[in-house]
Amino acid sequence: MNYNRNFNRSETITGRTNTSHFNRPQLYEIHPISIKMIQKGNPWVTLDKYSEQFHPNEKFIVASNRRKPFALLLHDPRHSTVRARLWSKEGNFGKQIKNFKNDFIARVKEAFKQRKDQKILDKRNNLYLLFGEADRVPGLFIQLLNDQILIQSYTHFWDRYQDIILQTVMNQMKQVFGVEVFKDQIWMQNRADSNEFKAPAKGLDPNLSFKRFEINEFGCKYNVSIGEFYDNGIYTDMAAVREKLEKTFKSSKKVLNLYSYTGAFSVYAMKNGATKVTSVDLSETYMELLESNIKLNEDMSIGNHTSMISSVSDALNELKDKETFDLIICDPPSSSSNGTKRTNALKEYEKMLPKMYHLLEDGGQMVLFLNTHKVSKRKFSEKIDKITADKKLNLKNVKFLSLNSDCPSMPRFAEGSYLKGFILKKAAQKDDTSKKPE
Ligand SMILES: C[S@@+](CC[C@H](N)C(=O)[O-])C[C@H]1O[C@@H](n2cnc3c(N)ncnc32)[C@H](O)[C@@H]1O
Repeated sequence: MNYNRNFNRSETITGRTNTSHFNRPQLYEIHPISIKMIQKGNPWVTLDKYSEQFHPNEKFIVASNRRKPFALLLHDPRHSTVRARLWSKEGNFGKQIKNFKNDFIARVKEAFKQRKDQKILDKRNNLYLLFGEADRVPGLFIQLLNDQILIQSYTHFWDRYQDIILQTVMNQMKQVFGVEVFKDQIWMQNRADSNEFKAPAKGLDPNLSFKRFEINEFGCKYNVSIGEFYDNGIYTDMAAVREKLEKTFKSSKKVLNLYSYTGAFSVYAMKNGATKVTSVDLSETYMELLESNIKLNEDMSIGNHTSMISSVSDALNELKDKETFDLIICDPPSSSSNGTKRTNALKEYEKMLPKMYHLLEDGGQMVLFLNTHKVSKRKFSEKIDKITADKKLNLKNVKFLSLNSDCPSMPRFAEGSYLKGFILKKAAQKDDTSKKPE
């Protein structure tokens, strides 16, 4: 693969004559807001009148600020919104372009070493070895799922580097973890075009279209399938969050898991001693997978679990005055449909929270998640405070949860800190009788 660019071009970009010569890359002006955003820690340049002028053949963009080289960007002329992603803010960008392959390998190695040093594999065999922008390898995510490797790219930039990515993953698995990985254990998925057909990952072994296997997370077993569907059955980015909730689960016997998907939280609840777990999801298929996950764990009894294939709003109405729980998990998609109406999660909490409160025992806890970069931590917390005040709910916000560990959060980059959660605790006794929920 050829990493050398031909810098000896002379053409007019954004109305200026290119004065570049050999070894000095073309400079591109970028939007003043993009400059500010990059300075503040946001690594994306989105589509605008400046970025649409980037020449489609450029792999790298050297962005300028007042005619001085300012940032080295990875270019994706095919992406509908994110046209370039930050690679570097300092140094000699011409040299960095030439040395791109080595810098890429060094960043991957550093990311793998961080996970190794954290000893994550001692606790679970599903983890992110590389988490895109947070590991300074923008748009590239690598998961280890048992002995399989899933490489997901969110930008077309990486398409031409597939061989180097594969080689690097195999080399670094050996060097950092001492594990030999063969090509038939590697899967690749392009997630750059969210509007196009959501294609499953493709295996490098041409004879294998998909693979079903188990992973182990904190002593819980889960079924996973790569190559069969767009998603693989477990949200690995939630694993570190589940670990942070260990104490909360350990103190909970009756758990309600709303938007349960394949039941990672339900299984985790049972592992931590819950004797009555109710899971709610619209999808019959996901509920079947959830039940098969419980059955996979010999130490759990399916008799301790109730499946509700229903919308969360119907389930909350149905459970009212019949059941109570000491822990409620609520992890909605950012927007969802109950078959007739589309709603967004933040707004939905206005209706859901009082109903969940009604089902929560005194002293019980609920964990509310929001899975979108479009709402900040502050806006989410203000919304919860407003609902609890308006509806007179005796709830105390006790802890904030975010991406962490193998999925580092990026507080200055909204898209890189999409997951937010709050643990709310209901007062142990109704010490203020005037505070009755509406
Ligand atoms: C973000 S996933 C939940 C992930 C899960 N908490 C985990 O960690 O594995 C959202 C789930 O909500 C379900 N869902 C979407 N809209 C729903 C609704 N209105 N009522 C019930 N479930 C819904 C989807 O089928 C999907 O399984």
